[in-house]
Amino acid sequence: MAAAVELRGPKRHLLAGNLPEFRRDRLGFLTTCAREHGDVVPLRFGVFRALFINHPDAIEQVLGNSRSFVKSFAYDMVRPVIANGLLLSEGDFWMRQRRLAQPAFQRARMGEAYTPIVVERTRRMLDAWTAGGVRDVHAEMMRLTSQVAGQAFFGADVSGAVDEVSRQLLVLTELLTKRLDSVLAFLPDRIPTPTNLRVHRAVKNLDAIIYLIIDQRRRSGVVQDDLLSRLLGARDEDGSGMSDRQLRDEVMTFYLAGHETTSLLLSWTLYLMAGHPAVQERLREEVTAQGDGPPTVADLVRLPYLDAVLCETLRLYPPAWGLGRKAVADCEVAGYRVPKGGSILFSQWVMHRDPRFFDDPDRFHPERWLDGLQKRLPRYAYFPFGGGQRICIGANFAMMEAAFVLIMLLQRFRFEPAPGFEVVLWPAFTLRPKTGVRLTVNQAA
Ligand code: HEM
Repeated sequence: MAAAVELRGPKRHLLAGNLPEFRRDRLGFLTTCAREHGDVVPLRFGVFRALFINHPDAIEQVLGNSRSFVKSFAYDMVRPVIANGLLLSEGDFWMRQRRLAQPAFQRARMGEAYTPIVVERTRRMLDAWTAGGVRDVHAEMMRLTSQVAGQAFFGADVSGAVDEVSRQLLVLTELLTKRLDSVLAFLPDRIPTPTNLRVHRAVKNLDAIIYLIIDQRRRSGVVQDDLLSRLLGARDEDGSGMSDRQLRDEVMTFYLAGHETTSLLLSWTLYLMAGHPAVQERLREEVTAQGDGPPTVADLVRLPYLDAVLCETLRLYPPAWGLGRKAVADCEVAGYRVPKGGSILFSQWVMHRDPRFFDDPDRFHPERWLDGLQKRLPRYAYFPFGGGQRICIGANFAMMEAAFVLIMLLQRFRFEPAPGFEVVLWPAFTLRPKTGVRLTVNQAA
């Protein structure tokens, strides 16, 4: 990485560069880099070089300029699965697909169409819970959010298939995460390692179901007001529609990008609430003051503390803990020259715990959000959903789903850490709890 002024980064190994330290403790390594080497840190992982930036203004230069920076090499690891879906496509094609999908995420639509799905699926899950036991709430939230995503975006008429997609997705997410952790992570996925072979099998299983869902909807001719119908109905200027392959990429992207991140927001919130009984009680009081019926969109504006708890959870445990971009031409970032093809990294985990922007940054303190902190912060000091044109399309959906599920959980149950349970952070593609989140679940009243 060229630089007008010589930049100094952490000490590196001759061949592996900074890879061993990064692999040993990704979050700790990046945090130390930022605190010890400042806002711009050159890193090398084997032959791969990247500039790690740690200032909101520098991040804005990158995320605010999606014409000059495209998704980085790190996304290549999920490319075999989501291919040319919205998360990875670029340029005019991406813009067209984004415009097509956007209406499915309008607030009004979410309230009407998705609330009953979230409420009903959550009710079914809670009816199966008994008070007094220990549960891995992370596993429960993974199941719940993948069912909700399937039904909300691809229709109730395929709910049997949706449950099967959920099951297959859980397998695939585990495998992809395992592959990321492997020393062979940077090898092309064509190489037939045992994990790669299993990934290909899981993708094949998923493809079979997803193509079936698409085929059924095409044949039925029924136009529903959901994401799948929107994508199916989209036409190019020459009148042609999206190919089955492109539809499959989009469907897979929405499932993968949408369900795990939201389940993590819920799991981390439950984990933090269980460890902070005063927060949990204040939240339960706010929630139950609205009554004990199923939540509605109208309730959400009357729940500022719930919103603060979710914001604080996304600050401390951002499901997307780091992002990367690649420069499409020579350019400058934070005063340093980045050559065409050069990579830039930045991390929500590191920025969200930066003492320059957050007092007592490691403390879970939802109250900090109640007096307009968000408006006072520089735009990219806090960016759990990314930013610029490529900002998460599902942010409102995720916040609404998480709020509804939490309201229903708090109405019925009280949470404590299970005896002897200690959380283990696992920063894979997303920030996961390695051994789940085991909580004791008791009756609320
Ligand atoms: C707490 C939950 C979520 C978090 C933390 C999250 C985070 C993010 C982030 C950081 C990005 C930007 C990635 C980048 O710039 O490289 C992103 C993009 C995206 N997210 Fe989310 N997400 C969440 C929920 C969802 C949901 C529920 C959906 C779908 C229903 C979704 C679908 C997408 C898609 C399709 C993109 C790509 C958008 C584009 O490039 O146009 N996400 N998400």
